[in-house]
Amino acid sequence: MATPGVFVTGTGTEVGKTVVAAAIARTLAAEGKKVAVFKPAVTGLDEEGETDHALLRRASGSQQSDEEIAPYRYDPPASPHLAAALAGEEIDPERLRQAAHVAAASADAIVCEGVGGLLVPLSPTYLVRDLAADLGYPVVIVASPGLGTINHTLLTIEAAHAAGLEVSAVVLNPWPEEPTEIERDNRKTIAALANVPVHTLPPLDLSRPESWPPLQI
Ligand SMILES: Nc1ncnc2c1ncn2[C@@H]1O[C@H](COP(=O)(O)OP(=O)(O)OP(=O)(O)O)[C@@H](O)[C@H]1O
Ligand SMILES: [Mg+2]
Repeated sequence: MATPGVFVTGTGTEVGKTVVAAAIARTLAAEGKKVAVFKPAVTGLDEEGETDHALLRRASGSQQSDEEIAPYRYDPPASPHLAAALAGEEIDPERLRQAAHVAAASADAIVCEGVGGLLVPLSPTYLVRDLAADLGYPVVIVASPGLGTINHTLLTIEAAHAAGLEVSAVVLNPWPEEPTEIERDNRKTIAALANVPVHTLPPLDLSRPESWPPLQI
């Protein structure tokens, strides 16, 4: 039977896809599952801080190498299609599909993180959304809690549905301890308009995955 998985995307860059993907992976690992993680391309390696593949590996307890988690890794903080071009290459969709397949084959569950949002190009002719469709996992959309998020989230859900993707949940992140009226209404309104479960994830101590609350999707 195929390994179950999720594909974590977001309304854009820096909304918390890695943290949410790590929280889902950590939750599955804490249930005793062997979890693989996957991210098609990581850019911005020359910036400070832990890389996406390192946090995903740490949270999931996976033994995968950088290469196995993220087949393409680039220094500039650019869209993957451009980062690849600047390195004199082009991202190969078949290599991504193969790598995700290999990662999933040796695990009980796989958690994939996209790059930016759904319509980000991995190559000039292949978008993150195309990869999500090829892998076939349900999509989890990470979005900010505050003003503007209804529009961004509903646009992303439409883009997912337009490609036949199943949207399993939205996660509003980071969800404040005392949400404002706008934030509470955003949660209700997205759930009502999109007919999708809307979860929340509080600010986490990223150094201690064992302290994180479970995020069951
Ligand atoms: N719930 C949270 N608790 C603590 N820190 C968070 C949380 N959510 C996001 N952050 C911080 O906000 C920043 C952006 O989060 P993250 O890296 O997960 O976003 P992203 O959507 O994966 O970004 P990218 O598009 O670069 O992959 C990071 O510095 C991360 O540590
Ligand atoms: Mg990330």
